[in-house]
Amino acid sequence: MALAEKIVLKAGRALPMLGVFMSFDIKGIVNSRLGENYDLHEQYVNQTLVKVLRTIEFDKIYARAEGCYLYDREGNDYLDFLSGYGVYGIGRNHPVLKQTIRDVMEMDLPNMVQMDCALLSGLLGEAISRETGGDRNACFFGNSGTEVNEAAIKFARAYTKRNRMISLKGSYHGLSYGSLSLTQNNNFQSGFGQLLPGVDYVALNDLDALAHELKKGDVAGFIIEPIQGKGVHMPDPGYYEKAQQLCRDNGTLFICDEVQTGLGRTGKMFAYEHWNLDPDIVTVAKTLSGGFVPVGGIITRRRIYQGVFSSMDRCVVHSSTFGRNNLAMACGLATLHVLKEEKLVENSARRGEQLMDGIRELAKKHEMIKDVRGKGCMIAIEFQKPSNLLLRAAWKIFDNVDKGLFPEMIVHGLMSKERILTQVAGHNMDVIKILPPYTIDDKEIGRFLNGLDRVLTECGSPLGPMWKFGANLAKHALAAKKAKAAK
Ligand SMILES: Cc1ncc(COP(=O)(O)O)c(C=O)c1O
Repeated sequence: MALAEKIVLKAGRALPMLGVFMSFDIKGIVNSRLGENYDLHEQYVNQTLVKVLRTIEFDKIYARAEGCYLYDREGNDYLDFLSGYGVYGIGRNHPVLKQTIRDVMEMDLPNMVQMDCALLSGLLGEAISRETGGDRNACFFGNSGTEVNEAAIKFARAYTKRNRMISLKGSYHGLSYGSLSLTQNNNFQSGFGQLLPGVDYVALNDLDALAHELKKGDVAGFIIEPIQGKGVHMPDPGYYEKAQQLCRDNGTLFICDEVQTGLGRTGKMFAYEHWNLDPDIVTVAKTLSGGFVPVGGIITRRRIYQGVFSSMDRCVVHSSTFGRNNLAMACGLATLHVLKEEKLVENSARRGEQLMDGIRELAKKHEMIKDVRGKGCMIAIEFQKPSNLLLRAAWKIFDNVDKGLFPEMIVHGLMSKERILTQVAGHNMDVIKILPPYTIDDKEIGRFLNGLDRVLTECGSPLGPMWKFGANLAKHALAAKKAKAAK
């Protein structure tokens, strides 16, 4: 008797599936086809991204990941100071998360019954409400940052019965229509037609402009990223506190988008704690997922929540099919546990300071470092024109083509020479951003600082390979500009 049949006889249920199950071998598929990544994407996914990654020589084939590192097929390690755009606070493939996922699978839990109240979403609601504190004890769960910011707009409108939203210049809140409307960035907004009406932007630190808008009495919500992701900008002392008070005085909800800053990224569980704020709505995503299962959440006050789910016929008036799925909820719970157990929020604060101190030391030696800013493991390094005449001339040419080219050169240098993954901090700025996992220690900090030191030293040579690569980038940027203008 075949093995599968024997098992069926013994268990007497579902195991005829075994044959089908065994015929699908994901490990075999990955092992046999790893290496086709870019060709597959060129053919079936995003060709343009493939082109960019090939141009900037980021077209690596990663085979494995653990903690702060990615590994290619040859076993070379890459220090991940990008963290999947800020997802891997607890590091990649954390063993507690892996075990949690296995455990959930083994329990054969009923998932997404929809017409029930599952345990795990209740537990995550309880846990994350306790973390946000105050009287924020009502949660909504979705699947991504943009989705929960969309929800924040709806919650604010439903509760206040007003239409308008105010957001900050230079902000980023996601790319679906509502969130994109809050995202004040032409690079993301252009080309997609009309956005949400009734959204206006004020400059960070401009209280008069904010007061002017709020006094009109029709603003449902004012949304901030406590630390702006694009460029890593922080407010002048007192700004957020006064902005929050202005919102209270004018019946506008004060919303903190903690999608990137939340769950320890800035050295506090939530970045609003740096300013002792008491937001009406908090949105989270990224780190809460543990890096495995997409999740987003809103944590708000009960009375605001009930403004949406205001009667029995509106009990699911806002929802999302996959929103409270068991794996996402379990990963959220496990991530909160790991953050506490390993004291990672504290580590994010301490190691972030250590990194910034180290970069400030480098600034004494490298005049191109203009500023180092951030909190915890969310750090920006801003660059400025060098004094050497030849370098200044090269910088100027780059700047004329595209303001983001110099930081692109640094990001490329860190990758190609040091195998360190970083990103440019936004469009039209000479800034790179680092978002390491909070698990970094002396080893990772040392590797980053030494790597940056070497890359900047090499940038001091106007005819060196760094500037040659920059010239190549400039050529591509110029060609792209011309093509766009010709359309
Ligand atoms: C502050 C902020 N809000 C919203 C988002 C959008 O999140 P998602 O990409 O999960 O939609 C991001 C993503 O980078 C973010 O940084």
